[in-house]
Amino acid sequence: MAATKKVFVKTFGCQMNVYDSERIGEALGRAGYLAAGSMEEADLVVLNTCHIREKAAEKVYSELGRIRQLKAERRARGKDTLVTVAGCVAQAEGREIVRRAPVVDLVVGPQSYHRLGDLIERTRQEGRALLETQFPQESKFAHLPERSAVRRPSAFLTVQEGCDKFCTFCVVPYTRGAEASRPVADIEAEARRLVETGARELTLLGQNVNAYCGLGPDGRRFSLAQLIRRLARIEPLARLRYTTSHPGDMREDLIEAHRDVAKLMPHLHLPFQSGSDRMLAAMNRKHRVADYLEVVERLRAARPDIALSTDIIVGFPGETEADFAATLALTGRVGFAQAYSFKYSPRPGTPASTFGAQVPEEEKIGRLLRLQAHVGRQQTAFNLASVGRVMPVLFERAGHRAGQILGRSPYLQAVHAPGPVARVGETLDVEIVGAGPNSLSGLILDPRCGRHDAGARAVC
Ligand code: SAH
Ligand code: SF4
Ligand code: F3S
Repeated sequence: MAATKKVFVKTFGCQMNVYDSERIGEALGRAGYLAAGSMEEADLVVLNTCHIREKAAEKVYSELGRIRQLKAERRARGKDTLVTVAGCVAQAEGREIVRRAPVVDLVVGPQSYHRLGDLIERTRQEGRALLETQFPQESKFAHLPERSAVRRPSAFLTVQEGCDKFCTFCVVPYTRGAEASRPVADIEAEARRLVETGARELTLLGQNVNAYCGLGPDGRRFSLAQLIRRLARIEPLARLRYTTSHPGDMREDLIEAHRDVAKLMPHLHLPFQSGSDRMLAAMNRKHRVADYLEVVERLRAARPDIALSTDIIVGFPGETEADFAATLALTGRVGFAQAYSFKYSPRPGTPASTFGAQVPEEEKIGRLLRLQAHVGRQQTAFNLASVGRVMPVLFERAGHRAGQILGRSPYLQAVHAPGPVARVGETLDVEIVGAGPNSLSGLILDPRCGRHDAGARAVC
């Protein structure tokens, strides 16, 4: 009997890559590969890469340096290792990857994962590095195998890919291609499969997810809001989320869905990038500060408790101290539950990388630190305001400490509580008793639990 080959997939970057890696694993499963417990025991290593900032892309090359050594060690033991670079660095850099890192056997862009099994076989047979970075006509989704059992309470589901916005700093329109939405029926079938195999929460993914406009079963186009309403009918699905959205595509029906659809969680990730209209114009963001504030106001009118998170870039070319102060001011005015901030990183091939007035590194660092301190205080304040409240928490896995389980509040806060692993997968009422900048601690209130606290309530 032929020995079974093993694959190790390592993921960098955003949630869409996490999702893609799962699908890559499934596609390779069909091609006869089992999941390896570590890279050392893998006959095939797949790096699913991210090109968003220079640091992210460089991480891939340092990983490839380590893999070169590992491959030599395995060879000394008479074992072959095939190395594949997938994802956004593969798409952006193509053959350059093999030139810089000859250890690589196959470079494959994000739209060709359905062909991975064949490509790997060809690489093996031909014994030379192959490159597949076309944007094929057919969608990979139509050719990927059915989802395997997730057995996880929370799962990602990509509904839309690519981006037509062309923000001047961003590589995504080049690495992921034009916007494309999956048909409603395909998404629904995948959602049902995920729920049947254990998912209770689905996060719908897209680089520009609120621009979703997939073909509906009636032949008409569905908006994201219509898709959400349809998926909300699936039992026993408990929660729906979606990410990432562009402020310019926050249409009324989506805002209304936040008011009407109980399963749609009161949290939205809505990047604003800069609080200065001058910078937003230079970034080609297609929205102004006032537009952003208006969207926030409409969202809060529809769902008063909605928690917001965002992405912010500091040190975009031409950013002055006054522009940066406007970013701090907007952050303070909105009040975010969470904010991810980044130093502007010039990316090859993007318009902004050729702009004059690039901001010196020390200034970028200074602004980043100031912004992080500012948003850190906001995050802590948001979490502290939860103390004393009782919230439904969907428990997702065992916690870091023994006897603890970890889940998420409706507002996407991480919550840990003492409790048995057997309760993972359930949504339980939790009294929040402590808060830090990044997580909450709580007590599960449940009559089925034997212990009682000082107030004589049943707790786990
Ligand atoms: N589609 C999403 C996010 C894409 S990338 C959106 O439109 O918001 C995630 C975040 O990375 C972006 O929101 C942005 O804040 C940041 N980012 C993208 N390109 C960057 C660059 N060149 N330098 C620094 N940060 C960048
Ligand atoms: Fe990049 Fe802008 Fe598209 Fe987001 S909207 S993926 S930041 S180009
Ligand atoms: Fe990175 Fe590509 Fe996602 S560049 S952020 S992995 S879309």
